[in-house]
Amino acid sequence: MGASIAIRGVAKSFGTGKSRVDAFGPADLDIAPGEFVALLGPSGCGKSTLLLMLAGLLEPSQGEVIADGRQITGPRTDIGIMFQDNTLVPWRSVRGNIDLQLELRSLDPRGYEARIKDLIRTVHLDGFENRAPYELSGGMQQRAAFCQALVHEPQTLLLDEPLGKLDAMTREAIRRDLQSLWMRSKPTVVLVTHSIEEAVQLSTRICVITPRPGRIEKVIEVDLPWPRDLEVRKSAAFVAEVAAIHDIFRRFGVL
Ligand SMILES: Nc1ncnc2c1ncn2[C@@H]1O[C@H](COP(=O)(O)OP(=O)(O)OP(=O)(O)O)[C@@H](O)[C@H]1O
Ligand SMILES: [Mg+2]
Repeated sequence: MGASIAIRGVAKSFGTGKSRVDAFGPADLDIAPGEFVALLGPSGCGKSTLLLMLAGLLEPSQGEVIADGRQITGPRTDIGIMFQDNTLVPWRSVRGNIDLQLELRSLDPRGYEARIKDLIRTVHLDGFENRAPYELSGGMQQRAAFCQALVHEPQTLLLDEPLGKLDAMTREAIRRDLQSLWMRSKPTVVLVTHSIEEAVQLSTRICVITPRPGRIEKVIEVDLPWPRDLEVRKSAAFVAEVAAIHDIFRRFGVL
């Protein structure tokens, strides 16, 4: 089960004087353990900025980020994180990259043998454990990055458009894997995405963020059955949810 996350009056600005950019907030949000929250908003609205603050990689200009009751004051190693571009090191194999995450945390890979096998099977990378990243397609690299983000059983998973650069078919397949991984162990997930469909398919709640400086305009509970397979996504309720969010962005003048 996941950890809780709270943001209290969090805002971030970059630079000073004339070159100051108000990137995000202020905003408040409470995320319960095991929730899957999408941050949905137009380009430049501060989604990545917020995610980096949740990871402790960027310090808020105002307010605080609290995880499981404790204020975050530096980089968190207890989380899993994934970006649009994967962070695989080129000189290590798929397996070597996964092991690296354990080594960095001083965890003994021998204790994680079964988990690693299970993760690799879940993302359909069996047989590619010993390949180097350059021997894999873009989609396979992101699948390997998923294993990397999840191997140490993080209670919190922060995802910054991890599927953004993939082709539609691969994106679809990895979304399904992500959903089954989440349903199995219910980590707390925060997913940054531009895709309304992706947000509705995967999340328990969607934070609709305004154009920069991003503020949380609305938090939408997505009350659709799990798993959100093709049947659910063809349902009138799913289509209506997507259309309603479309309308919000049309009002912002983004669409
Ligand atoms: N390190 C930085 N220094 C200065 N400005 C920054 C920095 N990081 C982000 N910004 C600015 O903050 C704003 C928000 O950027 P951010 O990357 O968070 O947006 P985003 O919502 O993730 O956009 P996208 O969907 O395109 O990834 C932008 O105007 C950007 O130029
Ligand atoms: Mg971004």
